[in-house]
Amino acid sequence: MKKIRIAVLCSGGGTNLQAILDAEKAGILSHGEVVLVVADSREAFALERAKKFGVETAVFDKGEYPRAARENAILECLKAHEIGLVVLAGFMTVLSPAFVKEYENRILNIHPALLPSFGGVGMYGLHVHEAALARGVKVTGATVHIVTEECDGGPILAQKAVRVLKNDTPETLQKRVMRQAEWKIYPRTIEKFCRGMGK
Ligand code: GRF
Repeated sequence: MKKIRIAVLCSGGGTNLQAILDAEKAGILSHGEVVLVVADSREAFALERAKKFGVETAVFDKGEYPRAARENAILECLKAHEIGLVVLAGFMTVLSPAFVKEYENRILNIHPALLPSFGGVGMYGLHVHEAALARGVKVTGATVHIVTEECDGGPILAQKAVRVLKNDTPETLQKRVMRQAEWKIYPRTIEKFCRGMGK
């Protein structure tokens, strides 16, 4: 079986990247392999996680590359590595339509809410959980979806609900959504998607 070559794009801590790498090690992710981690910041701790796992890294720092040049450089890098699937994991750049077209139906993202609630431009990181708490929802969660031109608007592949607790802060809710939903559904959905791609 030929494994799908996966690139994970990150900007920060990389806990989802870690969950994906752990799943690969445990054999939960077996139809795809992470061969490249791309970061748009030199500071991204995700780079350390990748190195520790022996995965090649590439950095296109926001401070050094203007947006269009950064996207082009990333695209070239993905092509040079013969990447079949692009996985966004806390990647803080909204991809241009041209980029999305190059990898149409082959870019996945995870969003820390039950889309279509609390999604779209400006809804990232703690903002998502602040908005959920402000609205008073009793249940939130995470969504894995295919990336299209519309921010957070692509076809939904998986969702997992997480209960909101009375004393939750954006930070406590963020942690619980990660632990109970994101780190579980992302690796499994990637595996399922790779299995489908291989057919
Ligand atoms: C996660 O909450 C993810 O849903 C969102 O960005 C965050 C990334 O966290 N897209 P990490 O870098 O994976 O720890």
